[in-house]
Amino acid sequence: MVHFAARTGWDLTENHLTQVLAEARATGKPLTDLTESNPTRCGLADATPLVALLGDPAGARYEPSALGHPSARAAVAGYYEARGIPIDPARVVLSASTSEAYGWLFKLLAERGDEVLIPAPSYPLFEFLACLEDITLTPYPLVREEGYRVDLDALERAAGPKARAIILVHPNNPTGTFVRREEADALTRFAAERGLALIVDEVFGDYAHGPLPPDRLPSFAGRDGALTFVLSGLSKVVAMPQLKLGWVAVSGPDALAREAMQRLEVIADTYLSVATPVQLALPRILAARGPVQRAILERVRQNLAVLDAALAAAGGATRRLPVDGGWYAVLQVPRWHDEDGWVELLVRDEGLIVHPGYFFDMPRDGFLVVSLLPEATPFADAAHRLAARLSR
Ligand SMILES: Cc1ncc(COP(=O)(O)O)c(C=O)c1O
Repeated sequence: MVHFAARTGWDLTENHLTQVLAEARATGKPLTDLTESNPTRCGLADATPLVALLGDPAGARYEPSALGHPSARAAVAGYYEARGIPIDPARVVLSASTSEAYGWLFKLLAERGDEVLIPAPSYPLFEFLACLEDITLTPYPLVREEGYRVDLDALERAAGPKARAIILVHPNNPTGTFVRREEADALTRFAAERGLALIVDEVFGDYAHGPLPPDRLPSFAGRDGALTFVLSGLSKVVAMPQLKLGWVAVSGPDALAREAMQRLEVIADTYLSVATPVQLALPRILAARGPVQRAILERVRQNLAVLDAALAAAGGATRRLPVDGGWYAVLQVPRWHDEDGWVELLVRDEGLIVHPGYFFDMPRDGFLVVSLLPEATPFADAAHRLAARLSR
């Protein structure tokens, strides 16, 4: 018998909702997927001109550089510079994705069994990333009544002796909230005092729905109060996850940031995972982000307005939670059914696919999450049916 590592002993049986969905698909009934957040399937701007940029003949040569090609790292620094955030290109590491970068940071910071603090609610990938690195996740709450503010007292209580890092998703997915400046300062102080690193996932950082109020922090990049790793990449910045290029911008007290870079260089050198053509094309790809981001923001704002109007017209008890940014909307729904019950009913009766809130670790039952990226016409039709169904 071959031994498979216990960390891969996942329960891969289909869950109830997957079965419900498979049954609905088998009937041939049309379904509208309100969880669709793959930007390449949402009828946005044609990405072929950007893909063509990968054809530079210089990409025929292989001259690997562990932290990334200098021109690509400079382009990442230029991206922050354009947002008014000066960072040092020498403190940038390229990876194939932010998901890979998380794995590298867990290798860098945590021994087997060490803990990383994660926000709840938030993005559901952490469980797998942590499991693959043999680390433990300890959730800390965001307080909904205070606009998903970090509960610092609870965070401090959650951070035990094995805690090594605090993850923040900024703006958060799915709640779409940017942290307040004083909240970021308190987090940074706490991290520095306790010798914790901050890992800040800013993949949605360019997608504030409007001007950020002055009390909100646009980015953690370049902050030096605590060892800070800011993650982002092309999957959201130019909506091209298929290009497989992400990055980490490292900052903090100089000696710590320098040592982190040296160690990260060895980790990155072990994999050399970013393809040369995409690194060489990065300056031009990043330079093309304006129209892509404007198209997405327009889509997201339009869909959000349509969703709000549909909910208002239906007159039910469903409320859309406020968001500062991102690609999702969270609905607080009547508790006549639990979340699975709503999801099942919406698939069966309306042909609509939505996420249950518990996917994102919402603290209690009664939430559904929808993507704001789907094409406007099917989204509008689906939003009206969704709102009407949730109100009866
Ligand atoms: C908050 C957040 N971080 C990271 C990712 C994954 O990004 P990447 O494609 O760079 O791994 C996603 C994908 O949806 C996300 O929502």
